[in-house]
Parts: sequence; structure tokens; C-alpha cells
Amino acid sequence: MNTTDRVFVYGAAGHTGRFVVDELLRRGLTPVLAGRSAERLDAAPQRHAALDRREVAVDDPELLRRAVDGVAAVINCAGPFLDTAIPLARAAVEVGAHYLDVTAEQPIVQSLYRVLDTPARSAGVAVVPAMAFYGGLADLLLTTALDGEHHADAVEVAIGLDRWWPTTGTRITGARNTATRLVIRDGVLTPLADPAPTSTWSYSAPLGTQAVVELPFSETITIDRHLRVGDLRSYLNTAPLDDLHDEATPPPSATDEHGRSDQRFVVDVLVRRGAQTRAITAVGRDIYAVTAPIVVEGAIRLLDGRHHGTGAQAPGEAFDAVDVLAALERDADGFQIHRDRHTTRLPQPA
Ligand SMILES: NC(=O)c1ccc[n+]([C@@H]2O[C@H](COP(=O)([O-])OP(=O)(O)OC[C@H]3O[C@@H](n4cnc5c(N)ncnc54)[C@H](OP(=O)(O)O)[C@@H]3O)[C@@H](O)[C@H]2O)c1
Repeated sequence: MNTTDRVFVYGAAGHTGRFVVDELLRRGLTPVLAGRSAERLDAAPQRHAALDRREVAVDDPELLRRAVDGVAAVINCAGPFLDTAIPLARAAVEVGAHYLDVTAEQPIVQSLYRVLDTPARSAGVAVVPAMAFYGGLADLLLTTALDGEHHADAVEVAIGLDRWWPTTGTRITGARNTATRLVIRDGVLTPLADPAPTSTWSYSAPLGTQAVVELPFSETITIDRHLRVGDLRSYLNTAPLDDLHDEATPPPSATDEHGRSDQRFVVDVLVRRGAQTRAITAVGRDIYAVTAPIVVEGAIRLLDGRHHGTGAQAPGEAFDAVDVLAALERDADGFQIHRDRHTTRLPQPA
């Protein structure tokens, strides 16, 4: 059990980092604001003014180790994670702190699993990347739908957004993350077909039936880490991708007292095992904002011992997925889980 409640938030001055700092404060933990720019940390909102700060870049391992020394966990919100995750996770493990991040990038989750698993086990800490909207949420939903089983013949994850106001970090990460995306076919991580398959998906209201494209994020890697899935297909509706690809689309702007934008999301997970089909859906508001309760719920469970073992782990492997989703329904305003809303499969990809 940790003796401190200090949580080091790297990228604390970023859009997602601020939501994470607010959520840590709301949950009674002590955030340490960290980032590469003192100027940006100084521009933190007034409500964060009294918090401890650490200006540190990721390119000096010794400085990084000193910066994280004495915290119980590190939450990395600074993407592209291809540039930040390995040095930060290594520093966290070396000082005996847990590590979580919010990456949607597949290659860095693979690297973290490969490089940090043994050191994290030796240090008695957990490394849990992708504890976020993209990645961890689908992993937790699938783990919940499987109800203690570890195998499915086929899984479809369909993310639907009514629009997408991307942050600078999203745009930079998209440009940096050029690796061929991976899917699961016949139980094996396999490159996504080029061009990516398209289809339609019947989302619940208000989205309804939408054009989708197969676009896997970090959930493919986390799911492959702990579950046996024959075929995994992840879709995103194409309308928000048009927003993302339009240079003129502005970043998100706050329209409620929590700082959330008006964006609404749906995540459908459809699972087939033999003749049986199960479905589970999450709905909520603002993909950046909801990432904060997801990753902070993980941090709290790592701190209070409600996690399974140590080493580099997937969200649904590290935590009791059913319990995490129930906590999110309680704590994240507007976040809801529906079971078996979808009972029949929709058209196969063209
Ligand atoms: N998986 C998900 O669902 C999910 C959800 C939310 C966010 N994300 C990801 O999280 C990342 C941040 O998103 P955001 O919306 O918070 O973007 P943002 O507002 O632009 O913030 C990005 C933050 O990362 C820092 N940063 C970037 N590269 C860095 C580097 N090499 N070294 C140190 N700091 C670095 C930036 O520092 P400076 O201010 O000094 O540039 C800034 O603090 C993105 O990669 C985004 O895709 C993923």
C-alpha cells in the first residue's frame, strides 16, 4: 500500500491534463503538475495555483527520475506518447511508482508491454497504458460483456461521435502516428487492409445509422494482451473524421460547469461466442473530459490496492472492469452503460 496520495500529472497544462488534475482534486488526491514548460504550467487555472509543480523534459532520465521521486503514481497526458511514454514509464518504475497514460497510439502500447513488464513486476508496480476513451473504454466494455470468460469468436467495437473538435495534441499525435494500424484476424495481430474497409453502423439515438470506416486504436493491443479474440474490428463513423481532417475545425470549447464541450459519444461493443451474441454500449459527453474519470479511477485503484497484480497490463486485466464501469456511471456526469441494446449484427464491411 502506498503511503502518499501524490500523483504526478505529466502534460498537466494540456487540455486533457487539466481535466485529470481537476478529477484528482475532486477525488481527494494530491496532483503534482508537471510538464516541459514552466511558462505553460504557470498559466494553469487559478484553482491549480497552489499545487506543486515540476518543470522537466523527458530527455534526461536522471532529472525525470528525481522529478517523479516520492509520488505514488504517474499519469502521462503528454502526447504524442511515442515521444514521452517510455522515458516516463521507466522513471516511474525505477522510483516504485505506478504508471498510467491515455494513449490511443498502438505502437507505444506494444512497446510499453514489451519494455516495462519485467521491470514493473520486479518493482512491484503496474504499468497501464491507454486508460482512456480510445483504448481502455472498449477494453473495459468487452471484458464486462465477456462476464469472466476470456474468449470470443468475433468482436466489433463501433465508436460514434456526433462531431469532433480536435485539440492540438490530437492533431500532432495523428501526424506523428503513421504506423500501419493493427487489427485481429484469426486470433493474430494483422495489418489493417488498405484501403480500410467501410460499412454502416446502426448506433442508438441520436446518431442513428452512419457510414463508418475500420479504424482501430489502442484497444486492439490492450484486448490482445489479455483476451483471446478470433476477429476484432473497430469502427469510427466518418462524419467526425471529416471534422478532424478539416484544418478549420476549432479546438473544443467549454459549454458546461465542468469545462466540457457539447460533443456526445456512443461506444457499442458487440461480441459473438458460438451462437450467442452479447452487446454493451457506453454513452456520454466529451471524449477528452471523460478520459479524466477513466484514468483517475485507475490511479485510485492502483493506490488503494484494488488491482490485479503488477507488470504491464491492459485496463480490463489490471482492474475489475464491471466495478470500474459502475464507478464511472456513478461519478462521470452523463456517462451510462446499456446492455444488449444491439441484438442483431449489421451489414458486414464492403
Ligand atoms: N486515448 C484517448 O481517448 C485520449 C483522450 C485524450 C487525449 N489523448 C491524447 O493525449 C494527448 C494530449 O492530448 P490533449 O488533448 O491534452 O492535447 P494538448 O492540449 O495539445 O496537450 C498536449 C500536452 O502534451 C505536452 N507534450 C506534447 N509533446 C511533448 C513532449 N515531447 N514532451 C513533453 N510534453 C509534451 C504538451 O506540452 P506543451 O504545452 O509544452 O507543448 C501539452 O502539455 C494526445 O496525444 C491525445 O491524442 C488521448
